[in-house]
Amino acid sequence: MSDQVYLRVDALRKSYGSGGARLEVLKGVSVEVERGEVCVLFGPSGSGKSTFLNLLGGLEPADSGSIAVAGQDICQLSGRQLVEYRRRELGFIFQFYNLVPDLTVRENIEVCRQLSKNPLPVDELLHSLGLWDHRGKFPNQISGGQQQRCSIGRALVKNPGLLLCDEPTGALDYKTSKEILELMEEVNRKFGCTMVIVTHNDAIRHMSHHILRLRDGELVEDERNEHLVPASELEW
Ligand SMILES: Nc1ncnc2c1ncn2[C@@H]1O[C@H](COP(=O)(O)OP(=O)(O)OP(=O)(O)O)[C@@H](O)[C@H]1O
Ligand SMILES: [Mg+2]
Repeated sequence: MSDQVYLRVDALRKSYGSGGARLEVLKGVSVEVERGEVCVLFGPSGSGKSTFLNLLGGLEPADSGSIAVAGQDICQLSGRQLVEYRRRELGFIFQFYNLVPDLTVRENIEVCRQLSKNPLPVDELLHSLGLWDHRGKFPNQISGGQQQRCSIGRALVKNPGLLLCDEPTGALDYKTSKEILELMEEVNRKFGCTMVIVTHNDAIRHMSHHILRLRDGELVEDERNEHLVPASELEW
């Protein structure tokens, strides 16, 4: 096995419901992602993208198969070990920002910093995220793009090995989406975290090292991108 492989998913299956109502959502997905890769995951609505991300994040159990993250099969972990895995290894960015409304921008980021053994400095992060001037504001006093930056800050401050992003620009306008993508590109370069980005925006494939596509619970595309385009040059 190559020691570059950071994430190895093997024959992963997941279904919901039982009997006649049983719905097979992931039908044996296998994939290898290298350390530091920006990986994009496409697929029609209902194809299993969020389910896949939730399994990678240890938020839901698989029916069968394995998910090795940095050599550790997270499907075999106890509840307590899963909590530890999420704290140590994982950042999660959602479409809707999941900020704590009663905490300021800085406090929202700081609460997540306390979860990590190896956190990033908050001041520096606030500057990188373009949030320095907004650090004392509450989520309802800043724009959607700024809220998404703050939620990215929450995920990043832990200095995670794996950053899982479910439609990180889904709720944003064109210009703000582009800024967020540029930020994610910079974060990947600076901190080397492996990223899996779920999106409906086809242009993101051009800035990604690795392109995956699910259709009806099966992986139908698994390609490496030879010619990366900087996020600033993407158009859609
Ligand atoms: N907790 C659940 N219980 C039952 N069915 C579920 C559950 N979560 C997802 N599903 C079903 O599993 C299928 C895949 O859902 P999933 O959310 O993974 O799709 P998706 O690819 O993320 O779609 P979208 O692009 O719309 O976000 C869908 O048919 C969905 O209804
Ligand atoms: Mg989804």
